[in-house]
This record gives sequence, C-alpha cells and structure tokens, in this order.
Amino acid sequence: MDATKIFFERHTIRKYLDKPVSKEILEKVLTDATRAPSWPNSQPWEIYVATGDKLEELRSAYLESFQNQETHTQDLPTPKGWPEYIDNRIKKSYAESFKSMGITREDEAARYKNWKNNYQFFGAPVAVFLCLDTNLSDWSLFDLGMFANSLMLAAKAHGLDTAPAASSVSYPHHIREVLDIPENQKIIVGIMVGYADVEHPYNQYISSRVPMEEVVHFRGS
Ligand SMILES: Cc1cc2nc3c(=O)[nH]c(=O)nc-3n(C[C@H](O)[C@H](O)[C@H](O)COP(=O)(O)O)c2cc1C
Repeated sequence: MDATKIFFERHTIRKYLDKPVSKEILEKVLTDATRAPSWPNSQPWEIYVATGDKLEELRSAYLESFQNQETHTQDLPTPKGWPEYIDNRIKKSYAESFKSMGITREDEAARYKNWKNNYQFFGAPVAVFLCLDTNLSDWSLFDLGMFANSLMLAAKAHGLDTAPAASSVSYPHHIREVLDIPENQKIIVGIMVGYADVEHPYNQYISSRVPMEEVVHFRGS
C-alpha cells in the first residue's frame, strides 16, 4: 500500500470482529513502530500488549468500574478545557460521528451503549498500552506520539485496524494490576488493534479535517 493510501485509509475503528490477530503480525507491526524517531534516539516507550485471558480480565474489571461510575484517574490528566476554535472542531466531530451512528441527543440508551463500548476496548482482540517512565520530560511524550502513529499506520499496512483511546486508560489501576506494570511507569494511552467489523454502524464515520491551508502557514518566496 502506498503511503498516502495508508494515511487516508486509517480510521479509528470502534467495533471489531471476533477474530484473533496472530502474534507474528503483531510482532511485525510493533517492530515497524520501533522505527519511530525520538530525541536523541532515547526510545522512551514501554509497551504492554494485552490479549486473550489478560484482556478479558481487564474487560471485566473495566465493566465493573464503568457500571459503578468509578471516577477516572488517568495517569495523564484529561484536558480541563480547550481554546474556543479547537473546541468547535471537537464539537463538530462529535456531532458528525453521532449523526453517522444514528444516535440522537435524546437517545440516552444508545449513548450509554456507545459509551460502554469505549470501556470494553471496542471489542478488540488486542489492546496495546503505551507507557513512559515517570521521570521523563514532555519531549518523551512527543516521541511516544510518533510511536503511536507509526504503530497505527504499520497496522494498516499489515491489514489491521486500530483505535487510539483515552477512555481505555481511564482506570489505570486495573491495567497496572492485570498487566503487572511497575509504579514508575505512567500509562499514557491505549491503542486497540484488530480486524474491523466494517458493517457496524459505529464504523461508518469518516472524520473530516480542516483544510491544510487553514493550519499550514507558508512564509517566504
Ligand atoms: C490521544 C487520543 C485519544 C483518543 N481517545 C478516544 C476515545 O477515548 N474514544 C474514542 O472513541 N476515540 C478516541 N480517539 C480517536 C479520535 O476521536 C479520532 O482519532 C479522531 O476523531 C479522528 O478520527 P480518525 O482517527 O478516524 O481519523 C482518540 C484519539 C487520540 C489520538
């Protein structure tokens, strides 16, 4: 697949087929992702891959916390707010995605189901958690972001789909316990991996972008 095709065909997939991903392909994808650049080749990422029994244990723990409306305790705190012009983009995106899923503002049951799906890792067969040592600077977070996108694009190139999800790290104590992650590592974000259930309504939304000209500022002759 050529690069542009991969960039345009990667979408966040929010419902997966009940089809396992072979360890061989996963290892290829993760090896590709380790080619991400970092300052100064520090390669700060620590990656935990949950599959099979461990992922099911995590799903059960998450379900209980979600149903009990347990407070989120993300290691990387949720933003408290956004500048207005950014907030408008987020609102537009939410409105478009709910519309494409056929979920109205009033339909609380459908909204709850969709929300719950987040806390069930979208039914994916693999959840990859990206972690960083607590003593690292913001630059390492930048590096981890590059690892994350490399992972998602590599997965697409290998015929897999992905979903980055802050919701998946809402209850880090469960992840830390089930996957045996040391206290000196912050659990930054989770990326679900698997094969898309292409017909599912949750997967019909193709997000838009502001035009390149709006965010890129050319200077000079
Ligand atoms: C750091 C990060 C956190 C995200 N968290 C969630 C999440 O909790 N739930 C969700 O459904 N999507 C989540 N997303 C996916 C974004 O909504 C998605 O990337 C964005 O709408 C653009 O759509 P696309 O990925 O399909 O191009 C997250 C994406 C990123 C990069």
